[in-house]
Amino acid sequence: MTVSNVQKARILLPTPQNLDRAAQAIRDGGVVAMPTETVYGLAGDVFQMDALTRIFRSKERPAFDPLIVHVSRRILDGGLLALNGSKLVNTPALSKLAWQNAERLIQRFWPGPLTLVLPKMEDVPDLATAGMPTVAIRMPRHPVAQALLDRCGSPLAAPSANRFGHISPTLPGHVMEELGDRIDWILDGGPCEIGLESTVISIEPEGQVALLRPGGIPQIDIEMVVSAPLGIPSRGPSVTNIPSLASPGMTESHYAPSKPFFLLPGPVNGLVVAQLPELVQSSLVGLLTVSGSTDAAIENWRKLTGRTPVIVRTLSPGGNLTEAARALFSTLRELDHSAADILVSEPCLSDEGLGHAIADRLRRASAKFATRSSGKSR
Ligand code: TXA
Ligand code: MG
Repeated sequence: MTVSNVQKARILLPTPQNLDRAAQAIRDGGVVAMPTETVYGLAGDVFQMDALTRIFRSKERPAFDPLIVHVSRRILDGGLLALNGSKLVNTPALSKLAWQNAERLIQRFWPGPLTLVLPKMEDVPDLATAGMPTVAIRMPRHPVAQALLDRCGSPLAAPSANRFGHISPTLPGHVMEELGDRIDWILDGGPCEIGLESTVISIEPEGQVALLRPGGIPQIDIEMVVSAPLGIPSRGPSVTNIPSLASPGMTESHYAPSKPFFLLPGPVNGLVVAQLPELVQSSLVGLLTVSGSTDAAIENWRKLTGRTPVIVRTLSPGGNLTEAARALFSTLRELDHSAADILVSEPCLSDEGLGHAIADRLRRASAKFATRSSGKSR
């Protein structure tokens, strides 16, 4: 698509009048960026082809990557039957265990950052699900997303409001940077509370639950509800940039800054110079650390490289992984805009809480450079 660089989007406070305007635009087949508790999404009516086409074109998203459908909390009382009534989920196709697990997860985690992949009804356009027989659904808990859903009266397809493969937006200004030249409105809901995307799980035909994307709800919390370890989806996740059949959007390279970004094999104070990408020797480096003191990180970097110029950003000095997740994408974006020539990050070594999701995002954000630590950039 041809796009100009003129920023035409407007950031709107979520007043009742602005919510009414946004809802009207969506009813007319348009798209609006909305805040959710995870990241900002680009929302359009899932049952309108014009809206779906606009979403894919604005994001430059490949058609193989299906969208998540967002539903109003008004349907919470009705559970799965209400999702059937909304023409989304083919409930008769569910086995007894699938039904039981889905209901339990809905009651426990909705509204919130959990996306369920379930058999779809024919009414859901193939464009939204990339031709898959399933549909991904979530009920966001951000009050502005809920207010918009209630006004629209239709489920909203909403991928993260960034260009395909880029860092996800957690502030209205991030959406402006990504899509400001190609959408009209961004609803301002402030900084996102969780800061990375929802956990995506599929309810497999026999009822087992499989993890497709780690995210805002830790795996262990889901396992406690279904009383079983999460399985691997029927088709395994991708290991290259070729999409997996289980979750086509889980490409290996994703959430990427524009500068070369390398994931270090361990904390800086345990490394030797030979483990660093060669580019580090001749560059101003932006170093991302997950926890610990920033001064100590600068000192460790000096000891390791003997070079002084480094810009360090720490996600959570106290090692709180909820805080680290909240800061992750905005800090990556900040380093990407800094004077640094290349970016490196310590890995997230904790599997507790949101540690798994942070580790996943860091790995994918640096995937383009994963095998190139010998020094060649793009
Ligand atoms: O937190 C979130 O989930 C955010 C906010 C805006 O709600 N949305 C989001 O959407 O992260 P997106 O489009 O960036 O990621 C959707 C993910 C992709 O990995 C896609 O492959 C997967 O969900 N997905 C969607 N439908 C699917 C399906 N039917 N089967 C398997 N995976 C599916
Ligand atoms: Mg995304």
